[in-house]
Amino acid sequence: MSDAILVLDFGAQYAQLITRRIRELSVYSELLPYDTPLEKINEFRKKYELKGIILSGGPASVETGPKMDKRIFEIGLPILGLCYGHQLIAHELGGEVRASKSREYGKKNIHIQKPEGLLEGLSEKERVWMSHGDTVYKLPEGFERQASTSTIKNAVYQNKEKGLYGVQFHPEVRHTKHGMKMLENFAFKICKSTPNWKMGNFVEKTVKELKEKIGNEKVIMALSGGVDSSVAAALIHKAIGENLHCVYVNHGLVREGDPEKTKKVFEQLGFEHFYLEDASEKFLGRLKGIRDPEEKRRIISEEFVKVFKEKAKSLEGKFGKIKFLGQGTIYPDRIESAQPSKTAAKIKSHHNIIMGELSFELVEPLDELYKDEVRKVGEELGMPKEIIVQWPFPGPGLAVRCVGEVTEEKLSVLRKADRIIEEEIRKAGIYESIWQAFPVYLPVKTVGVMGDHRTYEDIIALRMVETTNAMAANFAKVDWKVLEKIASRIVNEIEGINRVVYDITNKPPATIEFE
Ligand code: XMP
Repeated sequence: MSDAILVLDFGAQYAQLITRRIRELSVYSELLPYDTPLEKINEFRKKYELKGIILSGGPASVETGPKMDKRIFEIGLPILGLCYGHQLIAHELGGEVRASKSREYGKKNIHIQKPEGLLEGLSEKERVWMSHGDTVYKLPEGFERQASTSTIKNAVYQNKEKGLYGVQFHPEVRHTKHGMKMLENFAFKICKSTPNWKMGNFVEKTVKELKEKIGNEKVIMALSGGVDSSVAAALIHKAIGENLHCVYVNHGLVREGDPEKTKKVFEQLGFEHFYLEDASEKFLGRLKGIRDPEEKRRIISEEFVKVFKEKAKSLEGKFGKIKFLGQGTIYPDRIESAQPSKTAAKIKSHHNIIMGELSFELVEPLDELYKDEVRKVGEELGMPKEIIVQWPFPGPGLAVRCVGEVTEEKLSVLRKADRIIEEEIRKAGIYESIWQAFPVYLPVKTVGVMGDHRTYEDIIALRMVETTNAMAANFAKVDWKVLEKIASRIVNEIEGINRVVYDITNKPPATIEFE
């Protein structure tokens, strides 16, 4: 069993960053809602060797804010509270938490009086990232102060006997210079975890679990040819072989050559059942006149489900009952669709989640992994590089890159622009250093001049981002010469476009896709 540290989510904006950091230490970590009952945690302990628990930050005040199952304090595992979690431990055990005189936000120095445990190996003065309104005025009995700032006394505390630790700041963000060292101290020195969570044993463990869960039943799977669904399919195929039936639905919103490429790859990988379903007319027909992004997503998902049901029915006629639906859902998909956090706002209806409304039982072998981890699994499985290192492509496809109504003309423009972008990025040798690069169709007419003629045509926006997990992203600082080449080719080679703009917004506040 892999060692693990659980994170309870009290609504911090980047709670998942904590699990991410723990995983970077090769210790498995998962985010659970703040009010997860002890029984659920005991369930988790059947799958993982639980070594410790972290309580995340959150926007509330402890007096009125969310509380955890108190029995968790009694299970004898080390608990680390961050920000709200730090205040909550103090409050629940008899300390005093009040609003601080001034709200602290940003970089601060802590002065360490006791450089041990969590703070072992750190200097007397350390740069940390604070973001809080309340603070711990009085520590509960048996707790000792380890560090203070110029304005707050109890910035770090410990109760070694009870295994309780708290920091008022955020070690998970990079602005806390030695935050990783603190989490490392917690994971290894305090929780005594072994860094034994690796992709290699993930594959072995998951294939075994899949075999147990699926047995001799059949799985139908939506295979888009993207990294996530491809790696999920390969894992399931490794477990159940020919009982896996993969369906590639061409919704007419795909990139140039994608359906054919995917078919070729999976046939070469030895998949016995790969079906190419061309449903583009149906999808495009239903999208006629629709401008609202969420409405587009809803229609696409609805159609997907329909196509699937029909295909499943015809396959059942031929092969017998299909019990499971395989999906390439990954961890950020769950989070972005407001699961499991009760406090996070819904940003976009991710396609993969909506697919879950089908009446099959779900098989989602990657739903605990981040994208870079999925790629490692793909490598372990020996999948071709063109699948593993390709840029992500959203489930609703080019529809979310066509601002406003989706039309055949716009899709054709997007496909051409997409090809130009990829060609030029590859030529520049920077394909792998960029997370994603794509065109977005902006139906906004502006004036241009070509030859001696006035033009009055639409805009293509270039979106190129760098990120490790798509939760937050920066626009890519691509060489202007490469951008210039792309812009000039798009305007010269594609009819109807006379202007190209570059999106220089990060995520947040923007999202990666435009819709
Ligand atoms: P956003 O636009 O939410 O995108 O910042 C984050 C990442 O997810 C991709 N994306 C999707 N992927 N189904 C998917 O499978 C979807 O509905 C979907 N929407 C966005 C997007 O391309 C980016 O990599």
